[in-house]
Amino acid sequence: MKLNCNPFALAAGLALALPPCASAANPIQDGYRAAARQENPAFKDFSADAGQKLYSTKVGDLACASCHTDSPKAAGKHVKTNKEILPLTPSTNPKRFTDAANVEKWFKRNCNDVLKRACTAQEKGDFMAYVLSVK
Ligand code: HEC
Repeated sequence: MKLNCNPFALAAGLALALPPCASAANPIQDGYRAAARQENPAFKDFSADAGQKLYSTKVGDLACASCHTDSPKAAGKHVKTNKEILPLTPSTNPKRFTDAANVEKWFKRNCNDVLKRACTAQEKGDFMAYVLSVK
């Protein structure tokens, strides 16, 4: 069982017997966890390794990395429009994975572009597990 750290208590400088925020739960990822359990009763957990594979595997000539670069820490560039894309990791871009509707919108668009189908809740959670693990 993983305990949540308490960012508010940590911000207030309180010493609490909680694990460090490196493993902090993300509410959006928690939503995908609940959805993944619905999709698959045998669901165990998300895998950063599977997420990294999804991030970098090309389908045809497009991967998530094509626009987001080989590192989710780096600023990317849209392959078609050349527009800059800010980094995906919250460690470099704190706004990432804070707005569920925005995250869903881009998963929908980008999974369809790359995989030609929607991502499953498992895939979205795996992707987040990878991106959130990159510090
Ligand atoms: C054709 C270019 C392109 C590809 C390929 C691409 N993305 Fe993106 N992605 C974008 C753009 C553009 C945005 C929105 C601009 C921004 O948020 O900086 C974005 C934003 C996102 C976000 C929003 C995160 C947040 O909290 O703001 C997620 C999640 C995401 N992409 C996941 C993926 C995944 C998963 C793949 C591979 C299946 C992928 N992207 C492939 C262009 C791309």
